[in-house]
Amino acid sequence: MVVVAAAALVGIGMMQAGGSRTVWDGVYTTGQAERGRTEYDVWCASCHQSDLSGGVLVGDDEAPSLRSMEKLLERRDLDNLYTFIKSGMPKEEPGSLEDETYADILTYLLQENGFPAGTTELKADPAALKAIAIVRRP
Ligand code: HEC
Repeated sequence: MVVVAAAALVGIGMMQAGGSRTVWDGVYTTGQAERGRTEYDVWCASCHQSDLSGGVLVGDDEAPSLRSMEKLLERRDLDNLYTFIKSGMPKEEPGSLEDETYADILTYLLQENGFPAGTTELKADPAALKAIAIVRRP
């Protein structure tokens, strides 16, 4: 058991011991965020604007700005945010995109909110997303 745990830690490489990472650890690549931007412009910008500032009215609801650090912190981890977006957006057709597309769009939102890119793409895997906490700049 001890041997297995040690091997797992070596496999994790640069990740912090214990498997807990944050959005400051470079959890996506710039190429992925670039794909995300293209998808965002197609599926999200009509309401949230291409600069993410929001403001478009949908019935009585106003599409919020997607640049709010406070709102991001409320989501606590990336799985929470991913699941919200996948189950609620695009507003007229929730859940209509591929999982990978949601993950790519999520990385674009991370990039635009100032979280750094890294060398590994973000996977559309709930358990992996759950292990990445949304926290203030350390
Ligand atoms: C038809 C308009 C519309 C489209 C298209 C749309 N949204 Fe939204 N979005 C809204 C509205 C209205 C809200 C606020 C009400 C709610 O939460 O359902 C919202 C809320 C959100 C929130 C929550 C923000 C917060 O402050 O907590 C996120 C994140 C979000 N949208 C992401 C997206 C993403 C990503 C896409 C593209 C895949 C998208 N939206 C497409 C209208 C839209």
